[in-house]
Amino acid sequence: MQSPQFPYLEVFRANSTYIIGLVVVGLVALLVSWAYGTDIKRIKGIPEAPGAIPIFGHLLKLGEDHASSCEKWWRQNNEPVFQIRLGNTRAVVFNSFEACRDILVKHHNAVIDRPKLYTFHGVISSTQGFTIGSSPWDSSCKNKRKAAGTALSRPAMRNYHPMFDLESFCILRDMHKDSNFSDPSVEISIRPYIQRFALNTTLTLCYGIRMDDTYDDLLREILHVGSAISLLRSASENMQDYVPALRYLPNNEKDARSKDLRSRRDAYLNLLLDKVREMIKQGTDKPCISAAILKDEETKLTGVEVSSICLSLVSGGFETIPGTLTSCLGSLCTPEGQIFQERAFADIKRHYPDIRDAWQNSFQEEKVPYLKAIIQEAGRYYTVSSMSLPRRTVTEVNWNGAIIPPKTMILVNAQAGNHDVDHFGPDAGVFNPERWLEPITKENDMGPFQERVLTSQAHLSFGAGTRACSGQLIATRLLYAALIRILSSYQIVASESEPPNTDYVDYNQFKTALVAIPRDFKVRLIPRDKQTMEECMQSAYERTKEFYKENIKSV
Ligand code: HEM
Repeated sequence: MQSPQFPYLEVFRANSTYIIGLVVVGLVALLVSWAYGTDIKRIKGIPEAPGAIPIFGHLLKLGEDHASSCEKWWRQNNEPVFQIRLGNTRAVVFNSFEACRDILVKHHNAVIDRPKLYTFHGVISSTQGFTIGSSPWDSSCKNKRKAAGTALSRPAMRNYHPMFDLESFCILRDMHKDSNFSDPSVEISIRPYIQRFALNTTLTLCYGIRMDDTYDDLLREILHVGSAISLLRSASENMQDYVPALRYLPNNEKDARSKDLRSRRDAYLNLLLDKVREMIKQGTDKPCISAAILKDEETKLTGVEVSSICLSLVSGGFETIPGTLTSCLGSLCTPEGQIFQERAFADIKRHYPDIRDAWQNSFQEEKVPYLKAIIQEAGRYYTVSSMSLPRRTVTEVNWNGAIIPPKTMILVNAQAGNHDVDHFGPDAGVFNPERWLEPITKENDMGPFQERVLTSQAHLSFGAGTRACSGQLIATRLLYAALIRILSSYQIVASESEPPNTDYVDYNQFKTALVAIPRDFKVRLIPRDKQTMEECMQSAYERTKEFYKENIKSV
C-alpha cells in the first residue's frame, strides 16, 4: 500500500499569493541588504555625509578628488569628522587639523593597522609582498618597519653623505647643461632632474645602484610603472575594491592592467637584485640594504620581506619628493615668490658668506632657517598625499562619546587639515614660508629670521603617530640639500608662456592618484655668480666621480 503524499501543489495553489509575497519580500530584503550593507554598521554619534546611493554609497558623489569633496562637506555642514560609505565599506573621515592630529596621535595604538584592498593587495602585491605603507599591522610589518627605521635613522644618515653630494650635484650639472650652460633666455622643465634625484637616492640606499642619465630607459620604466601603480591605489580610481560585483565584469580591464604592471615591476626588481648578486660575486657591491641581507648579515627577514622593504623605500620617495620640490620651486619662481628667493639667498649668505661652503655643507647640516621654513611650507601647502594612507582601527575608539568599532577604515584628509583656517589662520590657503619664522629683532620685520618654536605637530603631510612616514628625516635632508644648491646658484624665474600652477588643489594633474603629479611648467635660470657656481660644480664632480660608478646598463 502506498503512503499518501503531501499535497504540495494544492497547498501552494491555496496560498500562492502569500508564498509569492514572502519570496518577493525575502528577495527585496536580500537586495536591500546587498545594496545598503556595509562591513561596519552605521556608527552612532558620528554624522553621515549626505547623498549616499545604493550599492556605491558616496563613491560617485566624491568624484575624482576625494580630499576636496570631503573638505567642502566639512565646511558646508560644519562637521570636521563624518562617516561615508565607499561601496560596501564604511569609513570615518577626519578633516580639521585638530581632528586629524588627535586621531593619529592620541589614538595611535588603535589606528596602527592598514586596510587590505582587493586590487592593490590581492592582484598587484601578490608577488613581492606588501609595501610597509600598505601592510596590515603584524609581526612581519613590525620587522620591516624596524629595518627601514634603522636604514633611515639619523645615525645612518652620515653614511649617505656621498650619495646626497653626488645626486644633488647631478641636478645642477644637468640643469646647467640643458639650459645651454645657464643661458637665462632658455626655458627648461625641472621635474625630470628631481625625479632622477629622488629615485637614485632610494635605489642607492636599497641596491647600491644609480642611473646617471635623466632619460635612462630603466629609470623611466621604474617611474612609469610606479606612477601607474599609484593610480591604481586610490579609491576613486578603483571602485572594484568597494563594489565587489564590478570584479566579475567580463574583460576586467583593471585586473588586466594590474597584472601587466605587476609583471613589469617584478622584472625590474629582479634585475636590480640580480645586479646586486653579481656585484657581490665580483666584490664590487656597495653597502646597501639588499647586499647586507643577501650576504646574510641580517637574518631575521625573509626574501619577500627584503623585496618589500626595498619596494617601500623606492616607492615611498620617488613621487613624494619630486611632487613637493617641483611645486615648491613653482611657487618660488613666480613674481610673488621672488621675495622668498631673495630672502632665502640672504639667509644662505648670512650662514655661509662664501657660497662654496654652502655647497660643501649642503648635505651635512640643515642650519639655514629660511630654507627650513620653505621646506616646511612646501610640505604643508602642497599636500602631495592629500588623503594620506588609509588606516584601520584594531580596537574601539571612543571619539567624543561615539564608539568607532574595530576594523573600521579611517581616512585622514591631510589636505583639508593642512589648510584649516582655524589652525593656520586666515592665510592658510596662501604659500608663505614666513609663517614658520619670526624676525630675530622685533624692530626689523624684514629679517634676518629665526625659526618659530613649534608647540605642536607642524603639518600633516608626513602623517603622525605610530605609522607616520618612516622616510621623513631623509626626505627633509634631500629637499634641503637640493634647495640650498639650487637657490645659491640661481635666481629662478617662471616662464611667461608655461608658468606653474600654484593652486594647492589644481597644481596636481592627476587627482585620482595616491600621490600628486604636478602639472608641467618651465623656468629660466639666472646664475647668481656663474664663476663660483662652476667652481662649486667642478669640486663636487671631483669629490663624487669615484662614487657608484657601476652602471645598470652594464648588466
Ligand atoms: C616629501 C616626501 C614624503 C612625503 C610627503 C611622505 C608622506 C607619507 C605619508 C603621508 C605616509 C603615511 C603616514 C601615516 O599613515 O600617518 C607615509 C608613509 C611612509 N613613507 Fe613617506 N613620505 C615622503 C617620503 C618618503 C621617503 C623618502 C621614504 C623612504 C625612503 C618614505 C617611506 C615611507 C614608508 C616606509 C611609509 C610607511 C610607514 C608605515 O606604514 O608604517 N617616505 N609617507
